[in-house]
This record gives sequence, structure tokens and C-alpha cells, in this order.
Amino acid sequence: MNDSGMTKNRELVKWVEEMAAMCRPDRVYWCDGSRDEYDYIIKIMVDSGLATVLNKGKRQNSYLFRSDPSDVARVEDRTYIASRKKDEAGPTNNWIDPEELKKTMKGLYDGCMRGRTMYVIPFSMGPVGSHIAQIGVELTDSPYVVVNMHIMTRVGSKVLDVLGENGVFIPCLHSVGKPLGPGETDGPNWPCAPIEKKYISHFPEEKTIWSFGSGYGGNALLGKKCFALRIASVMAREQGWLAEHMLILGITSPEGEKKYIAAAFPSACGKTNLAMLIPTIPGWKVECVGDDIAWMKFGSDGRLYAINPEAGFFGVAPGTSMQSNPNAMKSIEKNTIFTNVGLTDNGDVWWEGIGYDPPAGRIIDWTGSDWSKDGGKPVAHPNARFTAPASQCPAIDPAWENPDGVPISAILFGGRRPSTIPLVHQSFSWNHGVFLGSIVGSEVTAAAISANIGQVRRDPFAMLPFCGYNMGDYFRHWISMGKKSATDRLPKIFYVNWFRKNSAGKWLWPGYGENSRVLKWIFERVSGGGKAVETAIGYMPTADAIDRSGLGVSDSDMAELLDLNRDDWKREAAGIRDHYAIFGDRMPDELKKELADLEKRLG
Ligand code: OXD
Ligand code: MN
Repeated sequence: MNDSGMTKNRELVKWVEEMAAMCRPDRVYWCDGSRDEYDYIIKIMVDSGLATVLNKGKRQNSYLFRSDPSDVARVEDRTYIASRKKDEAGPTNNWIDPEELKKTMKGLYDGCMRGRTMYVIPFSMGPVGSHIAQIGVELTDSPYVVVNMHIMTRVGSKVLDVLGENGVFIPCLHSVGKPLGPGETDGPNWPCAPIEKKYISHFPEEKTIWSFGSGYGGNALLGKKCFALRIASVMAREQGWLAEHMLILGITSPEGEKKYIAAAFPSACGKTNLAMLIPTIPGWKVECVGDDIAWMKFGSDGRLYAINPEAGFFGVAPGTSMQSNPNAMKSIEKNTIFTNVGLTDNGDVWWEGIGYDPPAGRIIDWTGSDWSKDGGKPVAHPNARFTAPASQCPAIDPAWENPDGVPISAILFGGRRPSTIPLVHQSFSWNHGVFLGSIVGSEVTAAAISANIGQVRRDPFAMLPFCGYNMGDYFRHWISMGKKSATDRLPKIFYVNWFRKNSAGKWLWPGYGENSRVLKWIFERVSGGGKAVETAIGYMPTADAIDRSGLGVSDSDMAELLDLNRDDWKREAAGIRDHYAIFGDRMPDELKKELADLEKRLG
């Protein structure tokens, strides 16, 4: 039917009418989520030249898009938490008064969809009908967003059925911000607005998202970072659950015992690779529930249960290969959308770090120009992406769509730390684990801001760009979650560091599938075993506790990986003090105490 007759939810119909009156699209289309609809919307973009059909023999039902060079990534500088009080957004978020921001944005939205279709996308974050899932509705004038949302979320009539007459939904308004004049079309060009007109806005009290001017990734697929992290983190705090930037994996021992682990890492630490890793230790199995976001609620047994609110992977393509992530490579063999990667002469995709040379013939780069190996330009944009259904991952966990979620036994934090932080350590307690989450960070490398090389850029809980409220209060919420259940029911908390280097600047740990050896120790620890020693920073594996059978890591490298240098750690503690100062009186006493205790233990 594809019109408002698809729902009896009056709030929804009223909101769509109001937004359409403001944005003035030529037509309104209600998405039913069907395969026919996906094909129909793809065809519109193939006909206009925006989408390129890939070689069916190599990438069945897959398409390539090239975005505008000004619209290639999340725009954190243009992302706002518009709470009524600035303090509620806190020191780590951009803030504008909500009234003022709405006024500015209403000016931009006024007539912004002229010449375009407004698509109404009802979507569920999480298995449809799950008690942990939530419903959103995105209005967008981007058909590219519609097909990506089809893959990344559960879309359509089944969601409207659950919403019913009176159900609540998160309103998510999106426009590329480029109205068309009479007879004008985009042709093959990616529509978007200039940077100063881009706004990715969140109204946490109203639980509303308004996005304008970008068609790319997290700026535009509003179910992901905007809803499932920024708005959901606010809901989670109000309602006593957790919305986190975490992968979820299941690990099974050779004896057939299974545990689930959630893990948070800042961007560019190999989260998708870890979520799908293939263990190198015989008999162990890892399965993937999700690679980016976890929503966790306590079950009646006092354990934390997690769902992956997403239905697909929106992964970074460059660096993805059969060596770094074979399961991701297999997930993207068909039914996949590629954005900003290279195109080969035989109609396949190619990118830096794909693990093989490009085939002979012409190669087109992500900007649409001819590419040559010696031209000094990358073929794919560093933030080029694939959008693929999670169900296509060979290692997808059988319980990944369980509406009750999976029970979490361990939570991992990590970052890129060439020095100081050992390969793995375990917190003494829940509060000490929250402390470990609060100090997450990566060392700044030459690729980032050169003036700060060697300094640690803190990214607490890997949530710095994604927490929808004051981060001091977010720490407090984590502390309070530990009080809701018995210690033996709560997940154990660990800190891992795959990126430690020796004095010659060489990685000490091989990473990738070998990380399963560390997961094995964590598995043992949460099962009441695993050899460990108590140290100033937490429990650490003994020299022989990590299984190194068949691995070329020497005793001395292992000793360096587990080295705890007190001077380095005293410097670390001083850095943490500076980091904590940012949060002023919102910083919970419990975490200040954890820091003081660490300093005492370091002597
Ligand atoms: C992502 C990110 O794209 O964290 O998932 O930046
Ligand atoms: Mn992410």
C-alpha cells in the first residue's frame, strides 16, 4: 500500500504530516521492508548513475556508490547534544540550546525536500518484538539511506505491527539538504550540503534526532550511532540498562562450554576483526553476535543479557582481507553495498590491504577517476565501507537474534597502547572495572595530530563521540549498574592491549586469530580458573598462563608483554588525574577512590 494507511498509529501519521509540511517533498513513500522495495529503490539509483552494478559472477546483487569528497565520514564537529542545560551534555559534547538549534534547523529544513521523495522507514533496533529492542522511524530524502537501513536494521510492516496504535517510536528526521529545482536531477552525483550547513543533532529530553546535510554513514543511517548509542545511552540511564559501543562474541571451549564476551575499543583497533576472529588454538570456536553496538539489560537471574541492535555490518573496507578477517570477506560476497572503494575492469571491488594485487585493466578510484599504482593516491577512501547483512557471516552466532539476548560473562576494554599497558589484566572488582573503562584511550600516532605524538587520547568506554549526556554521569550510571546485582552474577571486567611494542618499535603480539589465546585465559578466569597473580594494576596472567603452543612468541617477548613498569604507570596515573579533572564535580567519588588506590599500590 506504501502510504499512511500502513499504520493506525496517530502520533506517527501526525508527525510524518508535520515533517512533510516543513520539508515539502514531491511525494511521501512508506517503506514496507520487502525485497521488491529494495530492488525498486536500487533501480532508481542505478538508472540515475549513482549506483554501479557489480559483476554478478563475483558479487551477486551488489552495488558500488561514490559519495561526494566532502561527505565521507561522521562529522563530529557538527554533531550536537542539544539538552536544555549545557551541563547535561557535559564537557565532551558539542552543545547548542535546543530552541536555537531547532530554529536554525527549521530554516534549513524548510522546503529542503523539494523535487525529492520523502521515505518513511519504520525500523526496529534489535529483533522485532524483543523486550530489549526499540522502534524508530526515519524520514529521509535519500534512497541510499533506505537501502542501507534495509540491511542495517529490521525495516517495514512487521515493525508497524509491533508499534500498533499507541506504541512509542524515536522520530529521526534526515535530509541530504539539497532541494531540486523544477526539472533538476542529481544525475550520478551524490547530494549533500556544505559542511557549515551540516547538523547531526540530538534532543535527549525529547528523544528526537534531526540530521541535515550529510548522506554518509553514521550521519545519515540514524538507527546506528545517533539512536542506538547517543539517544539510547540517555534512555538506558533513565531506565537502568546499558547502551554501549561494544562488539559481542560467543566463545566455545573444546569441551563445548560457551561464554559470551562484550568488548569496547576506540575506532581503528580492529573491533570487527575481533568480533569474527577464527581461533588459532585447536578446538576453540568464536561466533559473532555483533561487531559495533550492544544493548544490555539484567535478566531475572541477575545476569546481564545483550542484544546486537543492528542487523548488518557497516565495516571499514581498507585493510579487510582473507588474512585480517576471512569471515568479513565471506560476508561481503553478495547482497552488499560498497561505498567509496575502487572498481576493477571486471566489475569487482578493490581496496588497499585487500590482500591481493589488483587485476589487470582499468581501475577507477573512489572519486571516479582512473587510478594507477604509481599515482600516489589511494584507490579507496580510508573510511570506505561495506554494508552487508549480518546473517551472511559464516561465524554468525546461532543466538544472534535471540530476543532475550545472550548472557555476558566478561567485558573487555582496550586501545592502541604501544607501551605501559600489558597484554591483558583483570579488574579487582566492578568499580575497578568501571575505572578501566573510564581510562580507555589510544596513543596518538603520526597519522593523527602530530603535536601530540606519544600522548594518550582518552576515549572512555570508546564512547567519547557517542555518549548522549554528561560523561561524568555516564560513569556514575556504570557504577550504579554494579549495585543492581550480586558480584558473582556480574560480568568480570578486563583490559586488553594487542598493540604493545618492544624497544625497537616492533609489535610484540601477532594479533588477529592469535587473540583467541587471550580470550582463552579470560574464558578460564570467568570459569573460576586461569593462572593469575595479583599486581598493583589488577590480576595478571602468570608467565605461563597464556597458551603459546605453536606460537612464535618467545619467553622474553611474553615477559615484555606482561611487564608492569612502575614509572610508566605513575606517569599513566598522572595522565588519568588530568583526564578526570575535565569532569569536575560530576566525577564519581568511587572512581576518584579507584585512582587514589592505584596510586597507593604503585607506591
Ligand atoms: C564506526 C565508528 O564507524 O566507531 O563504527 O566510527
Ligand atoms: Mn563503531
